[in-house]
Amino acid sequence: MFNMVDLIEKKKRGQALSRQELDFFALGAARRTIPDYQLAALLMAIWFRGMTAEETRDLTLAMVASGEVADLSAAGGLCVDKHSTGGVGDTTTLVVGPLCAACGLKVAKMSGRGLGHTGGTLDKIESIPGARIDLSMERFVAQVREIGLAVIGQTGDLAPADKALYALRDVTGTVDCLPLVVSSIMSKKIASGAGAIVLDVKTGSGAIMRDLESSIELAKAMVDVGRLAGKPTLALVTGMDQPLGTHVGNALEVKEAIDILAGRAKGRLLEVSLRLGTLMLVAGGRAAEERQARALLEEALASGAGLEKLRQMIAAQGGDACVCDDTRLLPQAARKIPVRAERAGYVAAMNTAQIGLASQRLGAGRLSKEDAIDPAVGLVMDVSIGDRVEKGGVLATLYANEKGVEEAEALLRGAIAIAGEPGDAPRLIDALVRPEGVERF
Ligand code: URA
Ligand code: CA
Repeated sequence: MFNMVDLIEKKKRGQALSRQELDFFALGAARRTIPDYQLAALLMAIWFRGMTAEETRDLTLAMVASGEVADLSAAGGLCVDKHSTGGVGDTTTLVVGPLCAACGLKVAKMSGRGLGHTGGTLDKIESIPGARIDLSMERFVAQVREIGLAVIGQTGDLAPADKALYALRDVTGTVDCLPLVVSSIMSKKIASGAGAIVLDVKTGSGAIMRDLESSIELAKAMVDVGRLAGKPTLALVTGMDQPLGTHVGNALEVKEAIDILAGRAKGRLLEVSLRLGTLMLVAGGRAAEERQARALLEEALASGAGLEKLRQMIAAQGGDACVCDDTRLLPQAARKIPVRAERAGYVAAMNTAQIGLASQRLGAGRLSKEDAIDPAVGLVMDVSIGDRVEKGGVLATLYANEKGVEEAEALLRGAIAIAGEPGDAPRLIDALVRPEGVERF
């Protein structure tokens, strides 16, 4: 029999834990038989000492084994999942999910809530009047079989160890730890039953890992765990040096996704979505190679087939699909407040996490788990890095109700650095990580 004090002592001294020890830890976390203080002590020891590749794989598999594994075999094809490590204005799921489904791919996605400065797909979908994310496993699979696309909250008892450990990490300064991030994300992906996984690992001022090398390390570790677990996994490393889309919030991000699918908007969000979609179609066997995949996606965009898939998904999940034809049916904020530049110059850099926090303070995100979200609020960026601005020019527009205007305005203003010289525009796609190696762009 194992005991937690031995595991903590071992990791404290930098020794590797065995699969059996990690099973004991993950099961004890899931079943609540190990007290939080011992779980937290081991998490902190892991933060300081790290884990070997084998330990990271074993912890991931132990977390999968702490609960159920979803069976998507009735969905009628290989299901491909896509997962972002978390960003700002990052609503790729609502763009690429419908486009891939329109190309015949089965997209069965279990998403999360907003966390800290990052938005969550579930909160965005729930901003659509009537739309639900709490489908049963049976309805989820049936919807994927029938229309090729469903996005729901985690259902069933999948990776319950992660639930317990994530809540502790959030309050013990142990979120930013590579083996813990890898095992958290990959255990949920593996347990959710997908046949192949495409990851969008963010890098930059709005990402968990802010510098490129750590982001590539994270991507490599996740791809490696996918391979060891027998799930084909690829990771695109993409820039989060500024919000991905122009819209940050919940209904606001749904609006941007609809505008893109309707052909009214383009930009970084569309480009990253197309790159992810290309990898998804190839991974799911709907295209032989990337050029063909890209052409199929562009066709689904131009023909409106992607927007039609979103319409079908919203209707199937109980929502008002008319929002796809008239985005004014989405919740609307009472006030629009421009935030103006205090000097002329060029937008040199952004603190993207702080822009996410500005939106959170308006009510688009939670400060504590119990907080309710205001679906209508958030902000729309008027500038990107490299743009010229004049004094008094609009940097962004706050969409506000009662809450948080002054704080959001200060956060936003402080998040945008204006310099005398134009700098380099940051790269949007930094690297593609496959099991065979890393391709840098
Ligand atoms: N998202 C997760 O689900 N887990 C992490 O550890 C970080 C981001
Ligand atoms: Ca990105």
